[in-house]
Amino acid sequence: MKTIKQHAIWGHRGTFILAATGSAVGLGNIWKFPYIAGENGGGAFVLMYLVFILLIGVPVMMAEVTLGRHGRANPIDAVSKIARQSGASPMWNLIGWSGVIAGFLILSFYSVVAGWSLEYFGAAARGHFVGLDGETAGAAFNALLANPWRLFGWQSAFIAMTVLVVAFGVTRGLETAVRLLMPLLFVLLLVLLVYAVTAGDFAAGWRFMFGFDPAGLSWGAASLALGHAFFTLSLAMGAIMAYGSYMPGKASVGKMVFAVAALDTLVALIAGLAIFPIVFATPGLSPAEGPGLMFISLPVAFGSMQAGVFFGAAFFALVALAAWSSTISLLEPGVAYVAERFNIQRWTANVLIAGSAWLLGIGSVLSFNVWQDMSLLLGMNVFNFLDFFTQRVMLPLGGLLMALFVGWVVRRELLHHEVRPASETLFSAWLWLLKYLCPAALLVILLAGLWDQFS
Ligand code: TRP
Repeated sequence: MKTIKQHAIWGHRGTFILAATGSAVGLGNIWKFPYIAGENGGGAFVLMYLVFILLIGVPVMMAEVTLGRHGRANPIDAVSKIARQSGASPMWNLIGWSGVIAGFLILSFYSVVAGWSLEYFGAAARGHFVGLDGETAGAAFNALLANPWRLFGWQSAFIAMTVLVVAFGVTRGLETAVRLLMPLLFVLLLVLLVYAVTAGDFAAGWRFMFGFDPAGLSWGAASLALGHAFFTLSLAMGAIMAYGSYMPGKASVGKMVFAVAALDTLVALIAGLAIFPIVFATPGLSPAEGPGLMFISLPVAFGSMQAGVFFGAAFFALVALAAWSSTISLLEPGVAYVAERFNIQRWTANVLIAGSAWLLGIGSVLSFNVWQDMSLLLGMNVFNFLDFFTQRVMLPLGGLLMALFVGWVVRRELLHHEVRPASETLFSAWLWLLKYLCPAALLVILLAGLWDQFS
């Protein structure tokens, strides 16, 4: 007897917003956005980023959600079904494949970095930051990276947390998790913002984030802002398409996507406003510290402040939650594909895919120590290569194909029927952006990324 599996639908109206925001809000918002804004002069960078979110991120996200919801299947089957309906070449299936594979690869190394937040949560809560100076903090971070077993332990813990949620399925697992995690995440973020206002140098932090310095408007900064706008919305990795495929038919794609983009941006801005005042209030710390901002400067800052033990722990709990709701969305598309395609239990698919990502992740664990100097490809170690290949190649390429597919290939009536636009002008504007501006911008990201690497 063959059972027919029905594709799941979220049980609540707002779940798509929570889940997609959970996917979008991650290390990119809390760790990367503040430090790249810091390195690129603050205000001007923030402004460019906002423009790119609106003109490039939102239209592409709408395209991705539309594909998922119309296809009502995992990303690979969804795209192939729509290509068929539009009389297009099955080659477009590449979009689905590239998304699922990119999600899997990112999961493998993202969980390694996410694991660091667990270690730092523990250290903060046990008062290890108290009285820390920059040198000791740097040495402690390096000591963690130099210890493969410790990294492996945290990476394994993070994968296990992810598997646990995905195993319970779309409504009982993912939906329950995001409905608990996302409000908690927002509360923690607001608590930290209040702390930054009261205990930090808020004026300096504000000036740094929003002070407009035209000198910051460079091509390099623009392509970085553009790439980040895309990365932070979790686009072109199957995650948003999978979540869209669980969206009830009545919900408005445009409104939902807009809400997700707005929340994601809000979190990035608030994270900056929570972090910089604390950094500025601590003598000797620089805002333009780069990647060390989160794991070196912030522990020092928390360690020198009133109630820093509590707020330091709250901060790293926030980071861990944000990363957790992202890894869930990285695992889901692959699991949905394997479970639907081969008609096997979700549980089996889950263990299969997460287990492979876990094994592959060991390569990234070792990239910080034993294999640091080994060259996998193009002179990069495993971590650097996967990071480069997914973010700089697969992401812009997948986004480019998606914009072209939805803009030029998918039947217009199908899109119109699925999106049910509030106005014809908005609908035409959306298609115009997808046809011209988005592909051009994505091509720029792709070329800029390759140029950076090979010049
Ligand atoms: N948006 C996530 C962040 O800002 C990172 C990310 C990129 C991601 N693509 C993804 C997360 C796909 C989940 C799924 O940290």
